[in-house]
This record gives sequence, C-alpha cells and structure tokens, in this order.
Amino acid sequence: MKDNLRQAMGRFATGVTVVTTKNNDEINGMTANALTSVSLEPPLVLVCIDRDNYTSKLINESKVFALNILGNDQQELSDIFARPGAGKADNLHDLKTSEAVTGAPIIDGCLSYLDCRVTKVYAEGDHNIFIGEVVGDRKSVV
Ligand SMILES: Cc1cc2nc3c(=O)[nH]c(=O)nc-3n(C[C@H](O)[C@H](O)[C@H](O)COP(=O)(O)O)c2cc1C
Repeated sequence: MKDNLRQAMGRFATGVTVVTTKNNDEINGMTANALTSVSLEPPLVLVCIDRDNYTSKLINESKVFALNILGNDQQELSDIFARPGAGKADNLHDLKTSEAVTGAPIIDGCLSYLDCRVTKVYAEGDHNIFIGEVVGDRKSVV
C-alpha cells in the first residue's frame, strides 16, 4: 500500500521547495513538495513533513520555516536537501543565503520564497502538517 501510494502520488507533478528553519543558532533544510496555499486573508500555507525527519523536529521547536521555491535548473539543491539529517547545515552555510523576517535561511537564486511563522501543527499519520502564516515573501524573479 505504502509503495503504491508513493508511486501514485509520484505521478502528480508539483513544484519543489527547500524548507529551511532556524532554531536558536541551528539551521537545517529539507526538500519538500507536499505543500499548498491555504488562505489569502490571513495568508496561510501548509507543508506536510514526516515526523521522524530532523527538520520536522527543528520546526516543532523553532516554530518558523521558509519555503524556498526551486526553479527548473536547481535539481542539484533538491538532491542535496533530500539527504537526511543535521549535516545539511554545512550545505546551507556554503550557499549564499539571507534572512527575511523569521531568521530561516532564504537561499539566493530561488524563484521565490515564503517566510512563515507556525500557527498550528496537526499530527496526522506519520507526518506533521505545519500551518504557517506568511510574514515575508517575494515575487518570482524570472
Ligand atoms: C522531490 C522531493 C520531495 C519531497 N517532499 C517531501 C515532503 O513534502 N515531505 C517530507 O516529509 N519529505 C519529503 N521528501 C523527502 C525529504 O526531503 C527527505 O526525507 C530528507 O532526507 C529529510 O531531511 P531531514 O531528515 O534532514 O529533515 C522529498 C524528497 C524529494 C526528493
């Protein structure tokens, strides 16, 4: 069932993001496509993250995340941030990044970003659904 679900959902074309967060001085990020906009007023989005993922634990503590929306030519970033664990902080430190409002890293060269404060977390199955209020964003740069 799990493999079938994965395969079926894999046929659903989506954009790809790197979800970043900053918890005190610690940063991390992971590749994610299970996200959607929820509301315009107030501006809300959601992202679904496996509860066992390191980033999920960090966001649960920091209560902030940024969605860095990748372009077609950024598959390398998608691959790097699909690796598990805290080691990707080094990758983030190697990249040119900035901060918007929450302190979560914004990766230079992404198509756009959504900088969010977590308003609610729903535990569903093996994932956390993080609802984020968008407190900083940028229009597409292309
Ligand atoms: C294209 C793509 C999309 C992904 N989307 C998600 C997602 O939406 N939610 C999720 O929990 N994992 C997703 N993953 C898997 C995570 O990126 C992967 O488990 C990562 O190792 C988690 O890193 P962490 O343990 O450091 O948090 C995706 C992977 C890829 C390649």
